[in-house]
This record gives sequence, C-alpha cells and structure tokens, in this order.
Amino acid sequence: EKVVLAYSGGLDTTAIIPWLKENFDYEVICVCVNCGQAEELDGLEERAKACGASKLYIEDVIDEFCDDYIVPCVQAHAVYENKYLLGTSMARPLIAKKLVEIARKEGAVAICHGATGKGNDQIRFELGIKALAPDIKIIAPWRSDKWNMDSRESEIEYCKAHGIHLPFSTDSSYSRDRNIWHISHEGLELEDPGNEPNYEHLLVLGVTPEKAPDEGEYVTMTFEKGVPTSVNGEKMKVSDIIRTLNKLGGKHGIGIVDIVENRVVGMKSRGVYETPGGTILMEAHQQLEELILDRDTYAFEKEMGAKFASLVYEGKWFTPLREAEQAFIEKTQEYVTGEVKFKLYKGNIIKAGTTSPYSLYNENLASFTTGDLYDHHDAEGFINLFGLSLKVRAMKLQENEKK
Ligand code: ARG
Ligand code: SIN
Repeated sequence: EKVVLAYSGGLDTTAIIPWLKENFDYEVICVCVNCGQAEELDGLEERAKACGASKLYIEDVIDEFCDDYIVPCVQAHAVYENKYLLGTSMARPLIAKKLVEIARKEGAVAICHGATGKGNDQIRFELGIKALAPDIKIIAPWRSDKWNMDSRESEIEYCKAHGIHLPFSTDSSYSRDRNIWHISHEGLELEDPGNEPNYEHLLVLGVTPEKAPDEGEYVTMTFEKGVPTSVNGEKMKVSDIIRTLNKLGGKHGIGIVDIVENRVVGMKSRGVYETPGGTILMEAHQQLEELILDRDTYAFEKEMGAKFASLVYEGKWFTPLREAEQAFIEKTQEYVTGEVKFKLYKGNIIKAGTTSPYSLYNENLASFTTGDLYDHHDAEGFINLFGLSLKVRAMKLQENEKK
C-alpha cells in the first residue's frame, strides 16, 4: 500500500519517510508542491529517494495559486484580524488538492503531512483532504503516540539510526513558511510578545523602513475586472506582477506586519509576516474599488471580505459557502478596471492618483461650486425626513421634562 507525503526536503518531513516505513510499512510517494517557496528543488529527488521514498513529484502550481487562490483573496480584500494577508492559509487548500490528485493517480490509501498538532495548518490540510477525498486516511505524525522526536537533535539521531546521513543543522531557526505571496516567521524571540523582533536576522523579502532608500519610487498598476494586468506599463501574468511588486515593496520596506493572532485551535500566537508585493496589490485594488463601487455594494462587499478571510484562515476553502461568497465578489468586479499610481517610500504607500473609465466620482457633484445635478434646496427636505425619528423622540423627552 502507498502513502503520499507532503514533502519539503526539510528535516521534519525527511524524518517522516523512515518513520512511515517503520510504523506502517507503506511505500512512500513524496510530493513537493511548489507555490513559490523559492527553495532549491534540484537534488530533492535524490534526497527523498536516499531516505527511502520510492518517488518524488514536484508540482509547480505557482500560476494556479496566483489566479485561483490569490486573486479571489485580493478581490475580497481578505485580511485576517485586520493585518494578516493569509499567505500560508490560501496555499494550504491548493496543496491538499495536489496531494489528493497524486494519491488518486498512485492509488494511495493515505496522505501524510508534517504539520504540528498545535497549529492551523493541520486543519487546513485535513479539511481540504476530507472535502476532496473523504475515503483517504490522514496521517499526522506530530500528533501520533508513535512519534517520539521532540527536537532537531532527536530527529537527526532517528535519521542516522535509519541510515540517513544528511548535513542538517541542529540550530533552531524561526518556523517559516514561504510562497510567492509572503513569508511568515514564528518562534524564537517572537514567542514572547514583550520582545522586539530581531529584524536584522529575521527579514527575508525586504528591509526595514529605516534601511529603505531615502528616495521614494513610483509604481503604476492596472486592473481589468478586478484582475491585475500590468505593472509600470508592462503587461504581465499575475505571478510576474507579484514578483515585480515583491522586489519593489521589499526594497522600500513595505508590508511588514507584527501580529498576535488567534489560531483556530484557541491559542494566541505571535508572528511576523512579510507581504511586500501583496500589500501594494491589495491597497491598489482597494483604491480602485473606492472610485467604482456604489456605496451599498461597497459596504456589503467589505463585510463579505471579512467573512471570506475567516473562512480561508479556518481552512474551509472547499465549501459551498466559500464558492458562494466568491461568486458574489466576482460579480462586484465587473467594472473594477483602471489604473492606480503609488509612491513607495520607507514603508509607506502614498497615493499618487487613480483613474478609471467607470469611476463614479463626479467632480461636478463633489466640488463646492453649484452644478445642476444637485440642488442644495433638496437637502433641506431630505434632512427633515432623515432626522424625523430622532426629532420626534427629542420632542417627547422635552414634553416629559416639563411635566
Ligand atoms: N500563523 C500563520 C497561519 O496560520 C502562519 C502559519 C505558518 N505555518 C508554518 N508551517 N510555518 O496561517
Ligand atoms: C504548525 O504548527 O505546523 C505550523 C503553525 C500553524 O500551523 O499554525
């Protein structure tokens, strides 16, 4: 029988290979789903095989990730607890989907992942697998009584005892997760919210605002029906737009967030996220919507966005509710077309002009000179009716005071 293992090449998932063989006698098929983690994938196959796996699949899903997962989240303005741009959360369902596809192709009976029993990722992987393949068995070694490793040293020992001699370092580092949208950092000094993050040591995608250039830099972006289509006048696919914005944002110290968030399993957890390009892209999209959406749709869409963010955070991607919410949001994007210009300067995104053929902003209406679309006299009657109920109440209170 076969098991499909979500494999990164790191120490944790490497130790899982001999562990699966020892405890279940499965043939191990490794799958590395590349969402843009920018790690060296050469040599991964040899490594997996040297550790006892029979095969390694490397699945490049970067464009699918951008088009079908990131874009809907940008359109929804999906931000968890007002800060976290969901970089890890949105990749997990896609990884689950690929694991299931390969499990089917290989006729595997189980899927195994290396997420711990304390986090969100276990939930996201497993809800994804359950939704797509309810018959497949799920193995989470970190929650198993048979998993007796609790440190990097013990994992290295275990590997050695099973004939695996790889140059893994015993130094503990941050717990990180990287893809094309972001990198997350948890652990080490961050575990105490009383500590300032050691940014020198921590940042991967960019610099702090202090280290950013003293000169600001302009960037323009266009969107068509809510989908980003170009940067600085150059048409690009979404993944290239994100790559370009990541470089610019990283250089100018944009998109660094330090948050104490509420995990699904109940505990608070402190993390630092770098989402340089994503922060610019979401802000630009938002900027366009401000011009284009009518007031009621805008307000409703914002509420929906907050709900969408919770769904994504909780791993409920493959659900009827997520599909329905996404359909609503997509409908609102019909006229979200136009151009946004920003100046990036030391961690700040400064608005430098937004235009759209569908802008509802009417200069005649907004300016203080009188036009013929708006008659000031209308406001008086409107306010009389708008304030009627509060006036009636105030009159009643006054009447009673006099008694
Ligand atoms: N706290 C974030 C989330 O729940 C990041 C998780 C990072 N995962 C990881 N395996 N390092 O989405
Ligand atoms: C883990 O616990 O595996 C990583 C953190 C998380 O899932 O929230």
